[in-house]
Amino acid sequence: MTIMVTGGAGFIGSNFVIEWLSKHNEPLINVDKLTYAGNLQNLDVLEGDSNHIFIQEDIGNTQAIDQLLKDYKPRFILNFAAESHVDRSIHSPEEFIQTNIVGTFHLLESIRNYWNDMSNKDKNNFRFLHISTDEVYGSLESSAPPFTETHRYNPNSPYSASKAASDHLVRAYYKTYSIPVLTTNCSNNYGPYQFPEKLIPLTIHNALRIKDIPLYGDGQQIRDWLYVGDHCSAIRHILKEGNVGEMYNVGGYNEMTNLEVVNTICEILDELQPRLDADSYKSLIKFVKDRPGHDRRYAINATKIEKNLNWKPTETIETGIQKTIQWYLNNQDWVANITNSDYRTWISKQYT
Ligand code: NAD
Ligand code: DAU
Repeated sequence: MTIMVTGGAGFIGSNFVIEWLSKHNEPLINVDKLTYAGNLQNLDVLEGDSNHIFIQEDIGNTQAIDQLLKDYKPRFILNFAAESHVDRSIHSPEEFIQTNIVGTFHLLESIRNYWNDMSNKDKNNFRFLHISTDEVYGSLESSAPPFTETHRYNPNSPYSASKAASDHLVRAYYKTYSIPVLTTNCSNNYGPYQFPEKLIPLTIHNALRIKDIPLYGDGQQIRDWLYVGDHCSAIRHILKEGNVGEMYNVGGYNEMTNLEVVNTICEILDELQPRLDADSYKSLIKFVKDRPGHDRRYAINATKIEKNLNWKPTETIETGIQKTIQWYLNNQDWVANITNSDYRTWISKQYT
């Protein structure tokens, strides 16, 4: 038995791969193109683990993916591979269309060919799990109830529109070709190995370097924060017991404004690593120009996964952020290695 993961050198994918291999003794084929967001150092702890088979490849390369499916015959395929940063999708949407829409389409075509040649027994056990996002639902008013799985798709950025399109393709391959798919729509993840372009790692990174912490607009936008380990456990539950063809919302029950998130990080850092000048890290917060089309609020109703699959997040924002900050403090080499010249070019383009 084998499983295949795409995008397993990125933030959530690498956390998933490491946890999966610590719990299962079976080969895992990790297919990743290694874009700026993919980093083999995330997988250093797996060195010497013969169950981890890394292949540098694009999910859109049909010939290569067809061959991998023939060679390894995975029972599960999990699709984490994507362009994932909203700000980058605003600057240059093309890659988002190529990977998130065209790439997912090609991957689905490879899976369709693979599926057609499978025995009935293998068909019964096979699952394709597509990792999507709550951003496909668009923005919520402050008093509106959280997103359920039947909430209308209403994406507002090139990123969320491309993820929405990929979700529709996945659904269509279930309805039309009976491929046993599962889709997860989760909220904002945070934790170890997150690239410091996203709010939480960027805040930690800048604070530790006594640089401005940029907050878009008034900082009152609301996100629901989910610790990455909780997301990975939700995926394992869905893979095992989820109903084929269905979507599952995954959330952390941690709705906070961006200003609250950043203040929390600064307060923890004030305790863990006080500044030499004794000032609070909060003095670094700088309100900057807002993100175009910025969604005001996301919130997840996770009742379906909680009731049907008996899953609940275990981390609160306090415990999760504390662990995350400690991880970044302990892994400054990792940060130094990935914040190369490409990273610095992006940050200077984005924030000046
Ligand atoms: P990430 O940007 O950290 O990692 C993406 C990975 O995909 C990278 O390793 C990259 O090299 C790889 N990749 C990109 N294009 C590829 C291609 N064409 N072929 C093969 N590999 C390719 O992203 P992440 O934050 O880990 O997100 C993983 C998934 O979860 C994405 O689908 C994202 O939309 C979704 N998601 C993320 C969050 C979040 O808060 N980070 C929340 C909800 C959903
Ligand atoms: O909701 C799930 C989504 O969460 C995922 O689908 C995306 O892949 C992931 O990137 C994330 O999207 P966001 O846009 O919500 O995450 P980001 O960390 O970029 O921003 C979080 C909030 O913080 C958002 O309201 C924008 C704001 N922000 C972000 C950055 C990078 C700032 O105020 N300043 C910043 O410098």
